[in-house]
Amino acid sequence: MLTPMAEMTGGSCLMRAVGGGKSALKSGVKRLLGRAGFDILRSANNLGGVDDFIPFEATMRAARAADLSVGDYIDEVMNGTPGATQSTIDELRALGVFAANPGTVLEIGPGSGRYLEKTLKECSPGRYEIYETAAPWTTYLVDTFGVVAQPTAGCSLAPTLDGSVDLVHAHKVFNTVPFLGASRYFFEMARVTRPGGRIVFDAMTEACLDPAAMRAWATEGGTGHDSYPAALPRRACVDLFATLGCNLEASFLAPMGVGTTEVLVFGKRA
Ligand SMILES: C[S@@+](CC[C@H](N)C(=O)[O-])C[C@H]1O[C@@H](n2cnc3c(N)ncnc32)[C@H](O)[C@@H]1O
Repeated sequence: MLTPMAEMTGGSCLMRAVGGGKSALKSGVKRLLGRAGFDILRSANNLGGVDDFIPFEATMRAARAADLSVGDYIDEVMNGTPGATQSTIDELRALGVFAANPGTVLEIGPGSGRYLEKTLKECSPGRYEIYETAAPWTTYLVDTFGVVAQPTAGCSLAPTLDGSVDLVHAHKVFNTVPFLGASRYFFEMARVTRPGGRIVFDAMTEACLDPAAMRAWATEGGTGHDSYPAALPRRACVDLFATLGCNLEASFLAPMGVGTTEVLVFGKRA
């Protein structure tokens, strides 16, 4: 059975399947990934990622067998939330995030690429950079979509120049990485975004944490994990980005396992 757990090891996080193997995936994945979305636990090497809880080979094989893209397979079969990724993309389109056809896009933690794939259906950037800690998925994304994989140290976008990106986004990442990593990435996201560009990410904010939601996480979340999902105060995010020249333009809730996550859309002042 997959047991979602989260542990911090030196400022990064690792996710993998507990109990490993196909049988573990078969028996536990629908129930637990459907509720929690992923599985996180302590690692010795501190560099793990989505590949550890969604093994690359097995997931690709299963998606092919189901005749689905890997992103749709994760949404529909593993998470039991068909259309969840597309619905976030639809919201972003309605908010005009893709309207200016961003020429440079940067995504943190794309994992299987389910948001990446759909983003590339909305716009045609000349350059799409990714920062991803899971090596097999990184290779797959580079080979499949021609994106540029940047060296990923954990919480820095140092290889990316100041003000060089039109759209910076991250999905279901900042509830899996610890506070310091998220905070450091926030400064970096504001730094690399060009004036007039957009920053999109989700966080499990107060809007996602009414008493019923907290009860659901407490009773239905995985056992033994004490850092996932990580919460972030909405106000702290909004106030921080305001000081970095980025105004909150919109927000909406999206499904995340047991509960929801709040997607925040910022525009960097020109
Ligand atoms: C829960 S998964 C979400 C994946 C993808 N965005 C999605 O929604 O399907 C979190 C992703 O962040 C990656 N990740 C974890 N820590 C990271 C870090 N410090 N920097 C960049 N990516 C990281 C993981 O490898 C994984 O791909």
